Amino acid sequence: MPPSCVSTSNHRWIDRGVCSRFRGTARGPVSINVPRLLVARIPAMFGFTLKNLRTRSSRRFEMSNATIDPQRPVGELVREVPAYTRVFEAADIDYCCGGDASLELACDQAGVNLDDVREELADIQTDDAEATDWDDLSELIDDVVETHHQYLREELPALEGLVRKVTRVHGENHPELEALQAAYLDLAPAMTEHILEEEEEVFPIIEKLDRGDSLSDAECRRLREEIEEMEADHEETAELLERIAELTDEYTVPADACPSYESMIERLEALERDTHEHVHKENNVLFVEAETKLSGGIESRTS
Ligand SMILES: [Fe+2]
Ligand SMILES: [Fe+2]
Repeated sequence: MPPSCVSTSNHRWIDRGVCSRFRGTARGPVSINVPRLLVARIPAMFGFTLKNLRTRSSRRFEMSNATIDPQRPVGELVREVPAYTRVFEAADIDYCCGGDASLELACDQAGVNLDDVREELADIQTDDAEATDWDDLSELIDDVVETHHQYLREELPALEGLVRKVTRVHGENHPELEALQAAYLDLAPAMTEHILEEEEEVFPIIEKLDRGDSLSDAECRRLREEIEEMEADHEETAELLERIAELTDEYTVPADACPSYESMIERLEALERDTHEHVHKENNVLFVEAETKLSGGIESRTS
């Protein structure tokens, strides 16, 4: 049974209509039919099912509107309270690649009202807002690989078939589908190559670092370069996903859509959400911690 704050029967928080609250648009809530795969994965997306990680479930996050400092980076806030992703996703606030931005700046960039967002953050049910300590980087790597990389390995090829089929059948009435297919065909192989590189080149060095093994200077250099490269890949992925979101009018199902078309839209949106969570774990937690350990190791060797 998922935590009560993550309701799978009432998709209030994964209803894109929540955005209208922040923006005050005339567009009413638009319910989306969340794919089964995504619903099953929601607890993991919010970091509730990570095994063997120490949690502070007893801690209550009694953050009132006044106590959430608007100058705190959004990535740091999500790292502290994973459930904040619900608010940030609904408000289209970039907390993964743009995790270093302050809450105030991130709200400004997303075009949403800072006070409304702070209020929503303060409303997060504190009993359910488990925070996770990420001291054990090997556990985090396992979670990233088993949850997000595995999902991509299954979903990317399956979704490619669907994108091709929908473009072939509906391309005449929806000319934007050609561009969507082109963006997807740039995205999928790049993501596949990226996760392989992480598993083969990046994560083994971080695991070595996490075990306390000493790294050679060449390994330290390589890890720094790899992290920079992975973060650049994340930026490119974000741009392609943004393009796909634009081409689908923010994942709006057209009136003449067949079930395949509808499924494609839902699965593309699920892919974007999963990628936000995935990139957050890497950019704002794993890579930050690895760089901190790396700096500590270099300092201790040179002191
Ligand atoms: Fe990854
Ligand atoms: Fe990555």
